[in-house]
Amino acid sequence: MDRDRLDLSPDEMRTLGYRVVDLLVDHFAEGTDEPLGNAPSREKLEDHFREVLPEKGTPPEDVLDRVEDEVLPNTMRVDHPRFFGFVPGPNNFIGVLADLLASGFNIFSGTWISGAAAAQIELVVIDWLRELCGLPDTSGGLFTSGGSMANVTALAAARHARLDDDVTGAVAYCSDQTHTSVDRALRLLGFRPDQLRRVPSDGRHRLDPSALRDAVAADRAAGRRPFCVIANAGTTNTGAVDPLPALADLADAEGLWLHVDGAYGAPTVVCERGQKRLQGIERVDSLTMDPHKWLFQPFEIGGVLVRNKQHLCRAFRLEAEYLEDAVGAEDEVNFSASGIQLTRSFRALKLWMTLQVFGREHVATAVERGFDRAEQAERLLRARPGWRVITPAQMGIITFRYAPDGWTPDQADALTRRLVPAMNEDGGIFLTQTTLNDRPVLRLCPINPRTTSDDLRQTIARLDSLRADISPVSP
Ligand SMILES: Cc1ncc(COP(=O)(O)O)c(C=O)c1O
Repeated sequence: MDRDRLDLSPDEMRTLGYRVVDLLVDHFAEGTDEPLGNAPSREKLEDHFREVLPEKGTPPEDVLDRVEDEVLPNTMRVDHPRFFGFVPGPNNFIGVLADLLASGFNIFSGTWISGAAAAQIELVVIDWLRELCGLPDTSGGLFTSGGSMANVTALAAARHARLDDDVTGAVAYCSDQTHTSVDRALRLLGFRPDQLRRVPSDGRHRLDPSALRDAVAADRAAGRRPFCVIANAGTTNTGAVDPLPALADLADAEGLWLHVDGAYGAPTVVCERGQKRLQGIERVDSLTMDPHKWLFQPFEIGGVLVRNKQHLCRAFRLEAEYLEDAVGAEDEVNFSASGIQLTRSFRALKLWMTLQVFGREHVATAVERGFDRAEQAERLLRARPGWRVITPAQMGIITFRYAPDGWTPDQADALTRRLVPAMNEDGGIFLTQTTLNDRPVLRLCPINPRTTSDDLRQTIARLDSLRADISPVSP
Protein backbone atom coordinates (compact mmCIF):
# COMPACT_ATOMS: atom_id res chain seq x y z
CA MET A 1 0.00 0.00 0.00
CA ASP A 2 1.11 3.52 -0.73
CA ARG A 3 2.21 4.87 2.61
CA ASP A 4 2.87 8.26 0.97
CA ARG A 5 -0.89 8.58 0.66
CA LEU A 6 -1.26 7.43 4.26
CA ASP A 7 -3.08 4.39 2.88
CA LEU A 8 -3.76 1.05 4.48
CA SER A 9 -5.02 -1.94 2.52
CA PRO A 10 -8.67 -2.95 3.04
CA ASP A 11 -7.45 -6.06 4.86
CA GLU A 12 -5.20 -4.05 7.14
CA MET A 13 -8.06 -1.65 7.88
CA ARG A 14 -10.41 -4.53 8.66
CA THR A 15 -7.95 -6.32 10.90
CA LEU A 16 -7.12 -3.18 12.83
CA GLY A 17 -10.73 -2.04 12.93
CA TYR A 18 -12.00 -5.39 14.22
CA ARG A 19 -9.31 -5.37 16.86
CA VAL A 20 -10.43 -1.93 18.03
CA VAL A 21 -14.06 -3.04 18.04
CA ASP A 22 -13.11 -6.14 20.06
CA LEU A 23 -11.30 -3.95 22.57
CA LEU A 24 -14.34 -1.75 22.93
CA VAL A 25 -16.76 -4.64 23.20
CA ASP A 26 -14.62 -6.21 25.94
CA HIS A 27 -14.52 -2.86 27.69
CA PHE A 28 -18.31 -2.49 27.65
CA ALA A 29 -18.95 -6.15 28.48
CA GLU A 30 -16.55 -6.33 31.42
CA GLY A 31 -18.19 -3.50 33.34
CA THR A 32 -17.61 -3.77 37.06
CA ASP A 33 -14.88 -6.42 36.81
CA GLU A 34 -12.63 -4.15 34.81
CA PRO A 35 -10.01 -2.16 36.75
CA LEU A 36 -10.78 1.49 37.30
CA GLY A 37 -7.52 2.57 35.70
CA ASN A 38 -5.21 4.97 37.43
CA ALA A 39 -3.39 8.27 37.34
CA PRO A 40 0.32 7.43 37.48
CA SER A 41 3.03 9.98 38.17
CA ARG A 42 4.33 12.25 35.44
CA GLU A 43 7.74 10.62 35.85
CA LYS A 44 6.36 7.20 35.01
CA LEU A 45 4.53 8.44 31.97
CA GLU A 46 7.57 10.37 30.74
CA ASP A 47 9.35 7.00 30.80
CA HIS A 48 6.62 5.42 28.74
CA PHE A 49 6.04 8.05 26.15
CA ARG A 50 8.92 10.53 25.85
CA GLU A 51 10.69 9.98 22.55
CA VAL A 52 11.79 11.95 19.54
CA LEU A 53 9.29 12.44 16.75
CA PRO A 54 9.41 9.15 14.81
CA GLU A 55 10.95 9.62 11.38
CA LYS A 56 9.92 6.20 10.14
CA GLY A 57 6.62 4.47 10.68
CA THR A 58 5.90 1.52 12.97
CA PRO A 59 3.54 -1.36 12.11
CA PRO A 60 0.05 -0.30 13.19
CA GLU A 61 -0.45 -3.49 15.28
CA ASP A 62 2.54 -2.44 17.39
CA VAL A 63 1.12 1.03 17.88
CA LEU A 64 -2.21 -0.48 18.91
CA ASP A 65 -0.33 -2.76 21.33
CA ARG A 66 1.09 0.33 22.97
CA VAL A 67 -2.31 1.94 23.20
CA GLU A 68 -3.67 -1.22 24.80
CA ASP A 69 -0.74 -1.77 27.17
CA GLU A 70 0.40 1.74 28.02
CA VAL A 71 -2.28 4.29 27.20
CA LEU A 72 -5.56 2.72 28.28
CA PRO A 73 -4.40 1.33 31.65
CA ASN A 74 -2.91 4.70 32.54
CA THR A 75 -6.15 6.60 32.34
CA MET A 76 -9.06 6.63 34.71
CA ARG A 77 -12.21 4.86 33.49
CA VAL A 78 -14.73 7.59 34.11
CA ASP A 79 -17.39 5.31 32.63
CA HIS A 80 -16.68 2.60 35.22
CA PRO A 81 -19.72 1.62 37.32
CA ARG A 82 -17.79 2.43 40.49
CA PHE A 83 -16.41 5.77 39.34
CA PHE A 84 -18.37 8.22 41.48
CA GLY A 85 -16.08 11.26 41.34
CA PHE A 86 -16.57 14.65 39.68
CA VAL A 87 -19.14 14.12 36.94
CA PRO A 88 -18.77 10.56 35.65
CA GLY A 89 -18.87 9.89 31.90
CA PRO A 90 -21.06 6.82 31.48
CA ASN A 91 -21.16 6.73 27.70
CA ASN A 92 -22.95 4.12 25.63
CA PHE A 93 -21.85 1.92 22.78
CA ILE A 94 -24.21 3.40 20.21
CA GLY A 95 -22.73 6.83 20.91
CA VAL A 96 -19.28 5.36 20.41
CA LEU A 97 -20.25 3.90 17.04
CA ALA A 98 -21.75 7.23 16.03
CA ASP A 99 -18.49 9.01 16.87
CA LEU A 100 -16.60 6.44 14.83
CA LEU A 101 -18.87 7.11 11.86
CA ALA A 102 -18.75 10.87 12.30
CA SER A 103 -14.97 10.90 12.31
CA GLY A 104 -14.61 8.09 9.78
CA PHE A 105 -16.63 10.01 7.23
CA ASN A 106 -15.25 13.25 8.63
CA ILE A 107 -18.61 14.94 8.39
CA PHE A 108 -18.39 18.71 8.46
CA SER A 109 -21.16 20.14 10.58
CA GLY A 110 -20.46 23.83 10.12
CA THR A 111 -22.35 24.56 6.91
CA TRP A 112 -25.37 23.14 5.14
CA ILE A 113 -23.52 22.80 1.86
CA SER A 114 -20.95 20.46 3.42
CA GLY A 115 -23.15 18.57 5.86
CA ALA A 116 -26.82 18.98 5.07
CA ALA A 117 -28.05 15.82 6.81
CA ALA A 118 -25.83 16.59 9.80
CA ALA A 119 -27.38 20.04 10.11
CA GLN A 120 -30.89 18.66 9.72
CA ILE A 121 -30.29 16.06 12.41
CA GLU A 122 -28.83 18.70 14.74
CA LEU A 123 -31.95 20.82 14.16
CA VAL A 124 -34.18 17.88 15.00
CA VAL A 125 -32.28 16.78 18.13
CA ILE A 126 -32.02 20.33 19.45
CA ASP A 127 -35.77 20.59 18.86
CA TRP A 128 -36.38 17.42 20.91
CA LEU A 129 -34.40 18.92 23.79
CA ARG A 130 -36.22 22.21 23.43
CA GLU A 131 -39.58 20.43 23.63
CA LEU A 132 -38.50 18.44 26.69
CA CYS A 133 -37.63 21.74 28.35
CA GLY A 134 -40.96 23.28 27.38
CA LEU A 135 -39.32 26.10 25.44
CA PRO A 136 -41.28 27.78 22.63
CA ASP A 137 -40.55 27.05 18.98
CA THR A 138 -38.83 30.41 18.58
CA SER A 139 -36.00 28.74 20.51
CA GLY A 140 -32.99 27.10 18.99
CA GLY A 141 -29.48 26.18 19.81
CA LEU A 142 -26.55 24.02 18.93
CA PHE A 143 -24.18 21.41 20.22
CA THR A 144 -20.81 22.50 21.55
CA SER A 145 -17.73 20.74 22.83
CA GLY A 146 -19.09 20.86 26.39
CA GLY A 147 -20.64 22.94 29.11
CA SER A 148 -17.86 25.51 29.24
CA MET A 149 -18.34 26.36 25.58
CA ALA A 150 -22.11 26.27 25.95
CA ASN A 151 -21.94 28.78 28.80
CA VAL A 152 -19.69 31.14 26.85
CA THR A 153 -21.96 30.83 23.81
CA ALA A 154 -25.09 31.61 25.81
CA LEU A 155 -23.48 34.51 27.64
CA ALA A 156 -22.22 35.96 24.35
CA ALA A 157 -25.86 35.96 23.20
CA ALA A 158 -26.88 37.64 26.49
CA ARG A 159 -24.16 40.27 26.16
CA HIS A 160 -25.22 41.07 22.61
CA ALA A 161 -28.96 41.08 23.34
CA ARG A 162 -28.89 43.07 26.56
CA LEU A 163 -25.76 45.23 26.31
CA ASP A 164 -25.20 45.55 22.59
CA ASP A 165 -21.74 44.19 23.47
CA ASP A 166 -20.81 47.22 25.61
CA VAL A 167 -19.76 45.71 28.95
CA THR A 168 -19.06 49.01 30.71
CA GLY A 169 -20.55 48.93 34.20
CA ALA A 170 -22.52 45.78 33.42
CA VAL A 171 -23.06 43.21 36.18
CA ALA A 172 -24.05 39.54 36.11
CA TYR A 173 -25.22 37.53 39.14
CA CYS A 174 -24.94 33.92 40.23
CA SER A 175 -24.76 31.92 43.44
CA ASP A 176 -21.49 31.06 45.15
CA GLN A 177 -22.08 27.47 44.00
CA THR A 178 -21.83 28.30 40.30
CA HIS A 179 -19.33 26.42 38.13
CA THR A 180 -16.15 28.34 37.34
CA SER A 181 -16.77 27.95 33.62
CA VAL A 182 -19.21 30.85 34.09
CA ASP A 183 -16.47 33.07 35.55
CA ARG A 184 -14.21 32.07 32.68
CA ALA A 185 -16.90 32.71 30.09
CA LEU A 186 -17.47 36.23 31.37
CA ARG A 187 -13.74 36.87 31.52
CA LEU A 188 -13.39 35.80 27.89
CA LEU A 189 -16.29 38.06 26.97
CA GLY A 190 -14.48 41.08 28.35
CA PHE A 191 -15.95 41.38 31.84
CA ARG A 192 -13.71 42.00 34.83
CA PRO A 193 -14.06 39.56 37.75
CA ASP A 194 -15.90 42.18 39.82
CA GLN A 195 -18.62 42.31 37.17
CA LEU A 196 -19.83 38.91 38.32
CA ARG A 197 -21.48 38.95 41.74
CA ARG A 198 -21.34 35.61 43.49
CA VAL A 199 -24.31 35.99 45.80
CA PRO A 200 -24.09 33.82 48.97
CA SER A 201 -26.40 30.84 48.60
CA ASP A 202 -29.10 29.85 51.06
CA GLY A 203 -28.91 26.97 53.57
CA ARG A 204 -29.61 24.50 50.76
CA HIS A 205 -26.87 25.89 48.51
CA ARG A 206 -29.34 27.63 46.20
CA LEU A 207 -29.34 31.14 44.84
CA ASP A 208 -31.48 33.18 47.22
CA PRO A 209 -33.89 35.44 45.27
CA SER A 210 -34.10 38.04 48.03
CA ALA A 211 -30.30 38.30 48.33
CA LEU A 212 -30.21 38.62 44.55
CA ARG A 213 -32.85 41.36 44.59
CA ASP A 214 -30.80 43.31 47.15
CA ALA A 215 -27.60 42.92 45.14
CA VAL A 216 -29.32 44.14 41.97
CA ALA A 217 -30.80 47.13 43.82
CA ALA A 218 -27.41 48.05 45.30
CA ASP A 219 -25.79 47.93 41.87
CA ARG A 220 -28.52 50.03 40.28
CA ALA A 221 -28.18 52.58 43.10
CA ALA A 222 -24.44 52.74 42.40
CA GLY A 223 -25.11 53.45 38.73
CA ARG A 224 -24.11 50.00 37.45
CA ARG A 225 -26.01 48.01 34.83
CA PRO A 226 -27.38 44.64 36.00
CA PHE A 227 -28.02 42.58 32.87
CA CYS A 228 -27.98 38.87 33.56
CA VAL A 229 -28.64 36.26 36.21
CA ILE A 230 -27.04 32.86 35.94
CA ALA A 231 -28.91 30.15 37.82
CA ASN A 232 -28.09 26.50 38.35
CA ALA A 233 -30.10 23.47 37.38
CA GLY A 234 -27.97 21.02 39.34
CA THR A 235 -24.81 22.42 40.88
CA THR A 236 -21.60 20.44 40.54
CA ASN A 237 -21.09 20.39 44.30
CA THR A 238 -24.44 19.15 45.57
CA GLY A 239 -26.86 18.91 42.64
CA ALA A 240 -28.81 21.88 44.04
CA VAL A 241 -31.38 23.43 41.73
CA ASP A 242 -31.88 27.15 42.18
CA PRO A 243 -35.51 28.30 42.60
CA LEU A 244 -36.09 28.79 38.90
CA PRO A 245 -39.69 30.13 38.95
CA ALA A 246 -38.84 32.81 41.54
CA LEU A 247 -35.67 33.73 39.68
CA ALA A 248 -37.57 33.92 36.40
CA ASP A 249 -40.08 36.30 38.06
CA LEU A 250 -37.24 38.42 39.35
CA ALA A 251 -35.44 38.41 36.01
CA ASP A 252 -38.67 39.51 34.30
CA ALA A 253 -39.28 42.28 36.81
CA GLU A 254 -35.69 43.54 36.59
CA GLY A 255 -35.27 43.09 32.84
CA LEU A 256 -32.41 40.61 33.32
CA TRP A 257 -31.43 37.82 30.96
CA LEU A 258 -31.92 34.47 32.71
CA HIS A 259 -29.25 31.94 31.83
CA VAL A 260 -29.45 28.54 33.50
CA ASP A 261 -26.38 26.36 33.74
CA GLY A 262 -27.90 22.92 33.54
CA ALA A 263 -24.77 21.35 32.08
CA TYR A 264 -25.03 18.59 34.64
CA GLY A 265 -28.71 18.53 35.65
CA ALA A 266 -30.77 19.72 32.69
CA PRO A 267 -30.44 16.46 30.72
CA THR A 268 -32.76 14.95 33.34
CA VAL A 269 -35.70 16.66 31.61
CA VAL A 270 -35.76 13.45 29.62
CA CYS A 271 -37.50 11.80 32.61
CA GLU A 272 -40.44 12.74 34.77
CA ARG A 273 -38.46 13.09 37.98
CA GLY A 274 -36.07 15.49 36.31
CA GLN A 275 -38.93 17.54 34.85
CA LYS A 276 -40.52 17.88 38.29
CA ARG A 277 -37.29 19.10 39.83
CA LEU A 278 -36.60 21.53 37.00
CA GLN A 279 -39.90 23.36 36.94
CA GLY A 280 -39.36 26.88 35.64
CA ILE A 281 -36.75 25.76 33.12
CA GLU A 282 -39.25 26.67 30.40
CA ARG A 283 -38.76 30.33 31.32
CA VAL A 284 -35.02 30.63 30.63
CA ASP A 285 -33.54 32.97 28.07
CA SER A 286 -30.72 30.50 27.60
CA LEU A 287 -29.79 27.09 28.91
CA THR A 288 -26.70 24.90 28.99
CA MET A 289 -27.28 21.14 28.98
CA ASP A 290 -24.61 18.56 28.32
CA PRO A 291 -25.41 15.23 26.71
CA HIS A 292 -21.87 14.10 27.63
CA LYS A 293 -22.83 14.34 31.28
CA TRP A 294 -26.20 12.77 32.01
CA LEU A 295 -27.36 11.66 28.57
CA PHE A 296 -24.72 8.98 28.30
CA GLN A 297 -22.76 10.34 25.35
CA PRO A 298 -19.04 10.02 24.75
CA PHE A 299 -17.11 13.28 25.11
CA GLU A 300 -17.46 15.83 23.62
CA ILE A 301 -21.02 17.07 23.38
CA GLY A 302 -22.43 19.98 25.31
CA GLY A 303 -25.47 21.93 24.27
CA VAL A 304 -26.92 25.41 24.40
CA LEU A 305 -30.54 26.44 23.91
CA VAL A 306 -31.63 30.05 23.51
CA ARG A 307 -35.25 31.14 23.86
CA ASN A 308 -35.03 33.40 20.82
CA LYS A 309 -32.59 31.81 18.42
CA GLN A 310 -32.15 35.11 16.61
CA HIS A 311 -30.04 36.25 19.57
CA LEU A 312 -27.50 33.53 18.81
CA CYS A 313 -27.43 34.39 15.11
CA ARG A 314 -27.03 38.10 15.83
CA ALA A 315 -24.26 37.54 18.37
CA PHE A 316 -22.22 35.30 16.10
CA ARG A 317 -23.04 36.07 12.47
CA LEU A 318 -20.10 37.22 10.34
CA GLU A 319 -19.60 37.19 6.62
CA ALA A 320 -16.51 36.17 4.70
CA GLU A 321 -15.84 36.19 0.99
CA TYR A 322 -14.43 32.67 1.09
CA LEU A 323 -17.71 31.39 2.56
CA GLU A 324 -20.02 32.98 -0.01
CA ASP A 325 -20.87 29.58 -1.50
CA ALA A 326 -21.86 28.36 1.93
CA VAL A 327 -24.55 30.98 2.52
CA GLY A 328 -27.33 28.84 1.02
CA ALA A 329 -31.10 29.27 1.09
CA GLU A 330 -32.90 31.04 3.92
CA ASP A 331 -34.02 27.81 5.60
CA GLU A 332 -30.68 26.00 5.20
CA VAL A 333 -28.99 26.30 8.54
CA ASN A 334 -25.28 26.95 8.92
CA PHE A 335 -24.54 26.12 12.54
CA SER A 336 -21.18 27.86 12.23
CA ALA A 337 -23.13 31.14 12.04
CA SER A 338 -24.63 30.74 15.50
CA GLY A 339 -21.67 29.64 17.54
CA ILE A 340 -17.92 29.84 17.96
CA GLN A 341 -16.70 27.06 15.70
CA LEU A 342 -16.64 27.03 11.92
CA THR A 343 -15.32 23.50 11.63
CA ARG A 344 -17.58 21.35 13.78
CA SER A 345 -17.77 17.61 14.13
CA PHE A 346 -21.10 15.84 13.74
CA ARG A 347 -21.84 15.63 17.46
CA ALA A 348 -25.59 15.42 17.03
CA LEU A 349 -25.26 11.99 15.43
CA LYS A 350 -24.42 10.23 18.69
CA LEU A 351 -27.37 11.61 20.60
CA TRP A 352 -29.69 11.06 17.64
CA MET A 353 -28.58 7.44 17.22
CA THR A 354 -28.81 6.80 20.98
CA LEU A 355 -32.36 8.15 21.12
CA GLN A 356 -33.31 6.23 17.98
CA VAL A 357 -31.95 2.95 19.32
CA PHE A 358 -33.11 3.13 22.92
CA GLY A 359 -35.99 5.59 22.66
CA ARG A 360 -36.69 8.27 25.23
CA GLU A 361 -38.22 5.71 27.56
CA HIS A 362 -35.07 3.67 28.12
CA VAL A 363 -32.87 6.75 28.34
CA ALA A 364 -35.29 8.17 30.92
CA THR A 365 -35.10 4.97 32.97
CA ALA A 366 -31.31 5.08 32.81
CA VAL A 367 -31.40 8.66 34.17
CA GLU A 368 -33.89 7.70 36.89
CA ARG A 369 -31.50 4.99 38.00
CA GLY A 370 -28.98 7.72 38.90
CA PHE A 371 -31.60 9.37 41.14
CA ASP A 372 -32.33 5.97 42.71
CA ARG A 373 -28.68 5.14 43.37
CA ALA A 374 -28.00 8.45 45.09
CA GLU A 375 -31.08 7.88 47.26
CA GLN A 376 -29.88 4.36 48.05
CA ALA A 377 -26.48 5.75 49.08
CA GLU A 378 -28.25 8.16 51.40
CA ARG A 379 -30.23 5.34 53.06
CA LEU A 380 -27.09 3.21 53.45
CA LEU A 381 -25.19 6.08 55.06
CA ARG A 382 -28.01 7.01 57.42
CA ALA A 383 -28.08 3.40 58.60
CA ARG A 384 -24.42 3.46 59.64
CA PRO A 385 -23.54 5.06 62.96
CA GLY A 386 -21.37 8.14 62.85
CA TRP A 387 -21.97 9.02 59.20
CA ARG A 388 -23.70 12.35 58.55
CA VAL A 389 -25.49 13.24 55.35
CA ILE A 390 -24.49 16.84 54.65
CA THR A 391 -26.71 17.35 51.61
CA PRO A 392 -29.35 14.73 50.84
CA ALA A 393 -29.52 12.93 47.51
CA GLN A 394 -30.59 15.46 44.92
CA MET A 395 -30.09 15.27 41.20
CA GLY A 396 -27.89 12.19 41.57
CA ILE A 397 -25.42 13.69 44.07
CA ILE A 398 -25.02 13.14 47.79
CA THR A 399 -22.46 14.71 50.14
CA PHE A 400 -21.56 13.31 53.54
CA ARG A 401 -18.82 12.77 56.08
CA TYR A 402 -18.00 10.75 59.13
CA ALA A 403 -18.61 12.88 62.21
CA PRO A 404 -19.87 10.87 65.19
CA ASP A 405 -21.23 12.58 68.28
CA GLY A 406 -18.40 13.91 70.37
CA TRP A 407 -16.05 14.63 67.46
CA THR A 408 -14.96 18.18 66.80
CA PRO A 409 -15.45 19.50 63.24
CA ASP A 410 -11.66 19.57 62.88
CA GLN A 411 -11.42 15.85 63.65
CA ALA A 412 -14.05 15.13 61.00
CA ASP A 413 -12.21 17.39 58.53
CA ALA A 414 -8.96 15.52 59.09
CA LEU A 415 -10.57 12.13 58.56
CA THR A 416 -12.41 13.25 55.43
CA ARG A 417 -9.19 14.54 53.88
CA ARG A 418 -7.49 11.21 54.53
CA LEU A 419 -10.37 9.04 53.38
CA VAL A 420 -10.47 10.11 49.75
CA PRO A 421 -6.83 9.28 48.94
CA ALA A 422 -7.07 6.09 51.02
CA MET A 423 -10.17 5.04 49.10
CA ASN A 424 -8.68 5.81 45.73
CA GLU A 425 -5.37 4.08 46.51
CA ASP A 426 -7.32 1.07 47.65
CA GLY A 427 -8.62 0.81 44.07
CA GLY A 428 -11.90 -0.53 42.84
CA ILE A 429 -13.80 2.62 43.76
CA PHE A 430 -13.22 6.26 42.88
CA LEU A 431 -14.80 9.21 44.60
CA THR A 432 -13.90 12.82 45.26
CA GLN A 433 -14.36 15.43 47.94
CA THR A 434 -15.54 18.99 47.85
CA THR A 435 -15.93 21.85 50.30
CA LEU A 436 -19.24 23.01 51.72
CA ASN A 437 -19.52 25.78 54.29
CA ASP A 438 -15.70 25.74 54.52
CA ARG A 439 -15.62 22.07 55.54
CA PRO A 440 -14.46 19.13 53.41
CA VAL A 441 -17.14 16.57 52.55
CA LEU A 442 -17.21 13.40 50.52
CA ARG A 443 -19.24 13.56 47.36
CA LEU A 444 -20.76 10.65 45.50
CA CYS A 445 -22.24 10.96 42.00
CA PRO A 446 -23.65 7.54 41.01
CA ILE A 447 -25.26 8.44 37.67
CA ASN A 448 -23.86 5.51 35.72
CA PRO A 449 -26.87 3.34 34.80
CA ARG A 450 -24.60 0.30 34.95
CA THR A 451 -23.89 0.90 38.65
CA THR A 452 -25.71 -1.80 40.62
CA SER A 453 -27.15 -1.52 44.11
CA ASP A 454 -24.50 -4.05 45.09
CA ASP A 455 -21.76 -1.70 43.82
CA LEU A 456 -23.16 0.92 46.17
CA ARG A 457 -23.47 -1.39 49.16
CA GLN A 458 -19.85 -2.45 48.69
CA THR A 459 -18.74 1.15 48.28
CA ILE A 460 -20.33 2.35 51.51
CA ALA A 461 -19.12 -0.74 53.40
CA ARG A 462 -15.58 -0.20 52.09
CA LEU A 463 -15.68 3.47 53.08
CA ASP A 464 -16.75 2.50 56.57
CA SER A 465 -14.01 -0.10 56.97
CA LEU A 466 -11.33 2.28 55.66
CA ARG A 467 -12.66 4.88 58.06
CA ALA A 468 -12.30 2.36 60.89
CA ASP A 469 -8.71 1.57 59.80
CA ILE A 470 -7.75 5.25 59.79
CA SER A 471 -9.55 6.17 62.97
CA PRO A 472 -10.44 3.04 64.91
CA VAL A 473 -11.47 4.74 68.15
CA SER A 474 -14.44 7.06 68.35
CA PRO A 475 -14.08 9.56 71.21
C1 LIG B 1 -22.72 22.74 36.33
C2 LIG B 1 -21.58 22.65 35.34
N1 LIG B 1 -21.39 23.64 34.45
C3 LIG B 1 -20.40 23.61 33.55
C4 LIG B 1 -19.50 22.57 33.52
C5 LIG B 1 -18.39 22.58 32.50
O1 LIG B 1 -18.69 21.63 31.51
P1 LIG B 1 -17.53 21.01 30.57
O2 LIG B 1 -16.60 20.32 31.50
O3 LIG B 1 -18.30 20.08 29.68
O4 LIG B 1 -16.90 22.12 29.84
C6 LIG B 1 -19.64 21.53 34.45
C7 LIG B 1 -18.67 20.42 34.47
O5 LIG B 1 -18.72 19.54 35.29
C8 LIG B 1 -20.71 21.56 35.37
O6 LIG B 1 -20.87 20.59 36.27
